[in-house]
Amino acid sequence: MPFDDLARLFEAAPSQFATSPLYGRLGAVVAADERLLAIAAEARPGQLPSNLLFASAHYLLLRDPSHDLAAWYPTTGAARPPEDDPGPAFTDFCLTRRADIVELMHGRLVQTNVVKRATALRLGLARVARLTGEPVTVIEVGCSAGLLLRFDEYHYDFGGRTWGEPASPVEIRTRWEGAAPAPDLGPLPAIADRVGVDLHPVDVTDPDERLWLRALIWPENRAQADLQDAALRVVAADPPRTVAGDAVEVLPRLVAEVPAGTPVVVFHAATRLHVAADRRDRFDQTIAAVGRTHALFHLSLEAEPDLAGVAFALRLRHGDGTERLAIADGHVEWIAEPPAR
Ligand SMILES: C[S@@+](CC[C@H](N)C(=O)[O-])C[C@H]1O[C@@H](n2cnc3c(N)ncnc32)[C@H](O)[C@@H]1O
Repeated sequence: MPFDDLARLFEAAPSQFATSPLYGRLGAVVAADERLLAIAAEARPGQLPSNLLFASAHYLLLRDPSHDLAAWYPTTGAARPPEDDPGPAFTDFCLTRRADIVELMHGRLVQTNVVKRATALRLGLARVARLTGEPVTVIEVGCSAGLLLRFDEYHYDFGGRTWGEPASPVEIRTRWEGAAPAPDLGPLPAIADRVGVDLHPVDVTDPDERLWLRALIWPENRAQADLQDAALRVVAADPPRTVAGDAVEVLPRLVAEVPAGTPVVVFHAATRLHVAADRRDRFDQTIAAVGRTHALFHLSLEAEPDLAGVAFALRLRHGDGTERLAIADGHVEWIAEPPAR
């Protein structure tokens, strides 16, 4: 990515990292410093440099919080008042630890697994249940640690009603913003099978991989980290099947295993934006091709151009039709009716 584009990306940090005042401020620091932009430019193609750079620095600080920079992170001390400028400490940290940061940026992926997105998955599956009475196979593309694939083991509080497993240690609260009552999160279709595909499925039993997942959560988002920890414990006790590889290659193989007559729900959340721009058409075509052999319900929670970065759209494509079921903020703190178009 050219430096001008990179600088614009980091200048947009206050909106991209809306719930992280620290990353909002650090964005301007990176955008104004060619030495930091050069480090950010090391991100792998298709990976957002801003997420990767901030996560890499956070990961190194979590491992060793001895640098002054740790004093600005709520996860490693946060002794400094927010009005103090974190720029000099961040710049020094990145230049001192450049080799470690670059190694992480070459080897790691943006794999944030946001547990609250399970509410959107349930909402979409409840709609699928009204369209087919058959048991379905759920395939999640970009499943990261597989936390969303265990959606039916969690408890949900949505729009004034509760759903799911009351005794679950994973309690997901999502606001409903709409004049009409909140849509139902159930009943769900019977699940014939479930499987995830990811470029790099996160091994939930590996402490280092869990630390990387922790580092991906913006430092202020303590509640999100606690929820992730709870879900990791549930999933580590019974990890869903996941397959490593690019969905373009792996999805056709997985679909070939699904018995004829079993509808397939292909779900992805915050994944398409991490696919390199020149591969997105193939990504879309690979999913659409599932419809040649099986009844396909393509459910996605992704950015769409008219939402201008303020929300994701929960969309369901089936048959010849497509419907926006809802919109939601990226972390699914709230879900709302889709705007009329
Ligand atoms: C930002 S994470 C989102 C994870 C999860 N869907 C969620 O919403 O919590 C995006 C995930 O998509 C995966 N990914 C990106 N491109 C992919 C591709 N072409 N095939 C399979 N997985 C991909 C990444 O490795 C990463 O784990």
